[in-house]
Amino acid sequence: MTIYKGRSIVVTAFFFQQLALLKLKRGGRKMAIEEITVEKLNAERFIESKIREISEAVVGGLAINALSGGVDSATVTALGHRALGERLITVFIDNGLMREGEPEEVVSSFRRLGISVQLVRAQEEFFKALRGITDPEAKREAIAQTFYREVLAQSIRKSKAKYLLQGTILTDVDEALAKIKRHHNVFVQLGIDPQKEFGYRIIEPLVQLRKPGVREVAEALGLPTHIYKRMPFPGPALATRIIGEITPEEVRIVRKATSLTEGMLAYTQAFQCLAILHRDKVTGVRDNERVFGRQIEIRCWDSVDARTATPTEMSWSTLTLLAKRITTEIPEVVSVTYNITSKPPSTMEPI
Ligand code: XMP
Repeated sequence: MTIYKGRSIVVTAFFFQQLALLKLKRGGRKMAIEEITVEKLNAERFIESKIREISEAVVGGLAINALSGGVDSATVTALGHRALGERLITVFIDNGLMREGEPEEVVSSFRRLGISVQLVRAQEEFFKALRGITDPEAKREAIAQTFYREVLAQSIRKSKAKYLLQGTILTDVDEALAKIKRHHNVFVQLGIDPQKEFGYRIIEPLVQLRKPGVREVAEALGLPTHIYKRMPFPGPALATRIIGEITPEEVRIVRKATSLTEGMLAYTQAFQCLAILHRDKVTGVRDNERVFGRQIEIRCWDSVDARTATPTEMSWSTLTLLAKRITTEIPEVVSVTYNITSKPPSTMEPI
């Protein structure tokens, strides 16, 4: 099945020089990954080599991949379908933590590209796993375990796939190895054997790239602009933007704030913008009455590859209008702030 308006791809022996080479330190837990910088990247040769690697790894069997709609998983979906056609099963796991209308939008936008995506509803499993947890890393771990061990493992068992294709990129690995954040999609590089832990193998075709490289590959694969230029969105989704316990009610508030923020700040063309729901309440006033309400923090980032970032400069009137809309359309919120810290020492997501 050819889905994309593919560009002509010339295969030469040269691509072997660029081929992904993972250098495993024998006996050690960490793997050194040879980065392919955007300057070095030849997207078409990269695609050709990855198609070959995926086909050779999966041979005649089946693979599965979880699409989140972000550029990394979208690129893996496109690559995987080029390599395996119908032998790649693509699922979208609705963990109850996605943005407004996101599950349906992603599924229908891939359907338009000729890729069918199975929507797996798993909200209850995730909320159950997150109940009572407030520690940031424990939340990430609960999401990762529910995703890989429970929900995805069930889809994999049903499908009889032996391989999971996933869009881990080098920045995810760096941050996980540096113990900055437990990126949900990093295992092998942390010494975790997915075959032993979950019963399936993981293939990571994008692990040598960073975001700008992935966008180039996505464009070369013929993915539409709205997909390859999409703002990054983390695997654990809105859970990374709720301080304290995650409940459906907290998600409802941060989801609405996210939608207003992304809508109003889209014009800035920032690398990423987000809304965070704080746990602490503050005193506010509505209709001359004291209320103890919620706080939303807005972050908007200029960045090239998410390793470092600076807050986006924008007009005061935009910020005050955004605050007005959030406090009007989400009555629980009485305070909106704009973060003016760079990464480092901040990180982009608060969790
Ligand atoms: P931080 O917060 O680490 O974010 O400065 C850097 C970039 O990575 C995204 N991010 C994630 N992406 N899984 C992902 O796929 C994750 O667990 C994760 N955590 C953060 C974040 O949105 C930003 O673009």
